[in-house]
Amino acid sequence: MNRLSVDGVDGVDGVDRVSGVDGVAGVDRIAGSNRVASCVRWVLAVATLAVFGAVTPRVQSEDSDAAKIDFFRKKVEPVLKEHCFECHSRKADEVKGDLLLDSQAALAKGGANGPAVVPGDVDASFLIRAIRYTEDDYKMPPRGKLDDDVIRDLEKWIKDGAKNNLPKESP
Ligand code: HEC
Repeated sequence: MNRLSVDGVDGVDGVDRVSGVDGVAGVDRIAGSNRVASCVRWVLAVATLAVFGAVTPRVQSEDSDAAKIDFFRKKVEPVLKEHCFECHSRKADEVKGDLLLDSQAALAKGGANGPAVVPGDVDASFLIRAIRYTEDDYKMPPRGKLDDDVIRDLEKWIKDGAKNNLPKESP
């Protein structure tokens, strides 16, 4: 009991000191320097826009290519590996539908029915029609439809040009 009340007083003391004169003075100083800082920041922002305006398009397209490959590696490749390679890669016991999905050349060539992936054209891509389960004889993967958000990821990948870092030729 005794120990508890001493602790309590100490705590209140501490709070008083922190929220006292020091704290308020500090806030004033910060508010003052904030005005100057935001002025400087504004000038810098305008200068930055002016300087980088000319080179931004190039930087952006390099950036987004890297981002698209990154998207492929994180969101698309794992799906192909887990749900398609078993039947559509060199590792398959028997390649199905004459379709490989494990290289850039294979994606471009497609299967018995032609290109599976048409970069930029989601609806023309047989791969998308197959995973949407809208093609009667080609519902892929055959054992169960992929989740909707996974299908959306693959659609986005193709819409954005189907960029990938697969080997040029199937291994
Ligand atoms: C269990 C084996 C199996 C798995 C797994 C599988 N497929 Fe297939 N796939 C087939 C078979 C079999 C065919 C050929 C059907 C036919 O010709 O009647 C085919 C055909 C296709 C075709 C049409 C090829 C063409 O031009 O005729 C596409 C596109 C396709 N699959 C995409 C996929 C995608 C994408 C995945 C993964 C999401 C996948 N498949 C997973 C067995 C599989």
